[in-house]
Amino acid sequence: MGQNVGFLLLPVMMIILCSMAFAQDSEVAENGRKMFIEKRCYTCHTINAESDAIQKEKVAFAKSKGVELKPDDEDDEGIAPDLSDIGTKKDAESMTAFLKNPKKSFKDTPVCKSNAKKKYRKRFKGSPEELDVLVIYLSSLNYDSYMEEDFVSCLKEE
Ligand code: HEC
Repeated sequence: MGQNVGFLLLPVMMIILCSMAFAQDSEVAENGRKMFIEKRCYTCHTINAESDAIQKEKVAFAKSKGVELKPDDEDDEGIAPDLSDIGTKKDAESMTAFLKNPKKSFKDTPVCKSNAKKKYRKRFKGSPEELDVLVIYLSSLNYDSYMEEDFVSCLKEE
């Protein structure tokens, strides 16, 4: 009898642990997307691989604030990269450093300087905890790239 219970325990434990890991994972994504909208990252960046979930979050956010959703600013198109694969390019540490002080990372070529006039280099406004939520989520994004081929980055090489 005792032996049978022990035999059952392992698979049951594994199922519990797996579902815990899964729940944690989707919580990271959910909270991260929420922060991505709340902090207005979406006004410049897309996460095309999760566009449905992002759209849902946008609608929920607008509703919770009782505001109308503004259409995305078309001026911004093509200047900020899609972030679907950002987790494969940058680690959490470098993203945190970047968001705290984006200016440092930008090139000073004439084109990039003129882009910068449109306030593309604002530092993150929020608590360290909020930044963590966002960065942990972004580091988890490792989809295929959705970047347009002719995208020219204004970020310095690392
Ligand atoms: C006003 C437009 C704008 C807003 C708002 C904005 N960004 Fe950006 N972001 C940019 C631009 C422009 C770049 C640099 C792109 C380049 O030249 O490679 C960038 C770069 C990045 C990068 C580095 C991308 C890479 O390929 O290394 C990350 C990560 C990022 N932004 C995250 C965020 C997050 C998170 C938010 C919200 C807190 C945010 N951005 C809000 C315009 C914006």
